[in-house]
Amino acid sequence: MTDSNWFTLRWNDGAVELLDQTLLPEKEHYLRLDQVEDLACAIERLSVRGAPAIGVAAALGVALGAFNSEADRVDDLRRELDEEVIPRLRATRPTAVNLFWALDRMQRRLHAGTDSEGFTAEALRANLLEEAQGILAEDIRTCRQIGVAGLEVVETGARILTHCNAGALATGGYGTALGVVRAASEAGRKVTVLADETRPLLQGARLTAWELQRDQIPVRVCTDNMAGAMMQAGKLDLVVVGADRIAANGDVANKIGTYAVAVLAKAHEIPFYVAAPLSTIDRSIATGADIPIEIRDREEVARIGDRVVLPEGVEVEQPAFDVTPAKFVTGIITEKGVLRSPYGSAIDRAFSQ
Ligand code: MRU
Repeated sequence: MTDSNWFTLRWNDGAVELLDQTLLPEKEHYLRLDQVEDLACAIERLSVRGAPAIGVAAALGVALGAFNSEADRVDDLRRELDEEVIPRLRATRPTAVNLFWALDRMQRRLHAGTDSEGFTAEALRANLLEEAQGILAEDIRTCRQIGVAGLEVVETGARILTHCNAGALATGGYGTALGVVRAASEAGRKVTVLADETRPLLQGARLTAWELQRDQIPVRVCTDNMAGAMMQAGKLDLVVVGADRIAANGDVANKIGTYAVAVLAKAHEIPFYVAAPLSTIDRSIATGADIPIEIRDREEVARIGDRVVLPEGVEVEQPAFDVTPAKFVTGIITEKGVLRSPYGSAIDRAFSQ
């Protein structure tokens, strides 16, 4: 499934095209970005967002930088991408590790195929585009595998709570948490979704509800402060969320508010699952305490749409992500199957498979 009348992002004829997520659900408008700086700004203002989608966008950005460069020697092209394009893309958002994973992969391809006679800057440009498009295609395949792995934990009729948007919009397509929902729905399990609206930027209400409605998967929305009452009322069977970065011990950084949902789920004995590709796991970081958390602008809290909802001069707290300790996570649904505690060894096994 995934309604084929829209796409999250793609390469088209020398530019990156993406659905501007800041305008959903009111407008379905595609941006055509043919400059790296414009793409970097689109990532920063969340026109494209969600950990895997940011990684794909950045990879396409490197290809864009290569095609825009006037360098005609391989060395010059490498230098320009290493010193200007890649650092600019790296600086867009700090938490989602998929961004750095994808840029590292592009950088490896940039330096592969070295120095052979006849290896031209043109050939290098083609290699980089191939690598970026490969990352996009792989991401969709991986999401589908996550969906199939998730069937193990989703029963017929399951009522699923999700937070933020970890769907087709947050990936190359299909989604991680919503990939699990889609796979269950395709398998005839008749699942229903309750989406937290996800203040301050409302990814749950604006994006999760939009894409599930497009696929005719039953979805309702509640404000973030209603999730506990829904659990207490026995209206939920499990929680499935995405992740921006998972530490080596299984601690999970995801959209702000995820931690509160995990604690509530534990209190109500409701399973709490995280769905994510292995590219979201950062084994160089021991625990969630070391995950860099993005702090966003006051204005995002101070306004709802055009309306100012804070007195002038009042400051805010504005972390974009929080960390859910591994002890609250029932399982991590990956393309290699569902990982369970103790996560350190489960993660190591998944990487060595
Ligand atoms: O700030 P955002 O919208 O990029 O945050 C997105 C999330 O927190 C998602 O849950 C996460 O990236 C997983 S996407 C498959």
